Amino acid sequence: MLQYLLTFVVLAQPASGPGAEAEKPATSEAQPADKAAGDKPAAGAAGETKPGDDKAAAPAAATGNPCDKNAPRPTNKPKKTLPPVGPRTDVQSENYWMPVANSDMAEHVDGLFIAILAISIFCFVGITIAVVYFAWKYRSRPGHRAPESSSHNDTLEITWTIIPSIVCVIIFLLGWKGFVDLNTPPKHAYEITIVAEKWKWSYKYPNGWVDENLHVPVGEPVRLIMRSKDVLHSFWVPSFRVKQDVIPNRYTKIWFEAKYPGVYRQYCAEYCGDRHSFMKSLVVVHPPGGFKRYMEEAEAALLDMPPVELGEYLYAARGCNQCHSVDGSAKTGPSWKGIFGETHATSAGQVKVDENYIRESILDPTAKVRTGFNAVMPTFKGQLKDEQIDGLITYIKCLK
Ligand code: CUA
Repeated sequence: MLQYLLTFVVLAQPASGPGAEAEKPATSEAQPADKAAGDKPAAGAAGETKPGDDKAAAPAAATGNPCDKNAPRPTNKPKKTLPPVGPRTDVQSENYWMPVANSDMAEHVDGLFIAILAISIFCFVGITIAVVYFAWKYRSRPGHRAPESSSHNDTLEITWTIIPSIVCVIIFLLGWKGFVDLNTPPKHAYEITIVAEKWKWSYKYPNGWVDENLHVPVGEPVRLIMRSKDVLHSFWVPSFRVKQDVIPNRYTKIWFEAKYPGVYRQYCAEYCGDRHSFMKSLVVVHPPGGFKRYMEEAEAALLDMPPVELGEYLYAARGCNQCHSVDGSAKTGPSWKGIFGETHATSAGQVKVDENYIRESILDPTAKVRTGFNAVMPTFKGQLKDEQIDGLITYIKCLK
């Protein structure tokens, strides 16, 4: 237990540091255990430093201090290039009718919409013709006196009450089915966290990557967990026929399964300020295999972050913050603050907190459990790459 403590942290803590602040709320709960999103990937998107570029490089490199996060970054880093987004395929099918229906939900919505539209047109045309015809037929004119209205006609009135009632119930039931479907994502749905703010969307993936566009695999259900940092927004993808308000201090959810690869448009559908109309992004539906490749490239870009930033990022993104604090306060596990270099009593005797002990505590948390804590930490073996463990160690080392 002890060790774990060392290794993982508590949550309530507002992470400090670049990107950390955007993250906290989302991370603490909406994510699956082994996934959480972080914020900083954008910074990580820069490529690698070339040997020999020391002059342009940051003071951190010059001083060898891995904790100096304020050090300017080398400016000669090539930008990591992510896969191209491609043309917007929903535009190609654009006409005066609706954009291509790119989900089962969209087909259900369209079917219901067209049925209601057809019924409405039928009633509108029928009633209009009848009104005009009767007005003409029974008009008052020379030699013809308009008949007095009959008081009522039971058969007629019952008929035009019962038939529309049945139609309304059918429409309600079909609408209800769509609503229930929209709110019950399949259990194996891929989960992506969305943060809305004036005036942009951030899409956070389970591996920690954050993107300004939504990338999804074709033919697989995707569940979106959404929150707003400021005011009301609304997530809308016309091609999927899904729209859901995004609300501060509350999570809202929606899901869809894209049927065709391509690039589709996403909008904010709730007036949220003077740049509301600019608050939009793209939904990239990757063909089979393409999404995995994209995520791997994104993950590679993440690993280019300076270790201390990567560690801080993973602390929130991988949920270490749920059990370990970085401010000295006690949680399920020991705080990470100032532990590096200390000697702790553990289930395996006195242990000095160094790189190897932290690494062991991450991969084999029950080996040396710090006295006073329970052995409840799960292993991260196979879930963290060596570079990521390096990052966590550096981050802990820098928490003075
Ligand atoms: Cu956000 Cu409109």
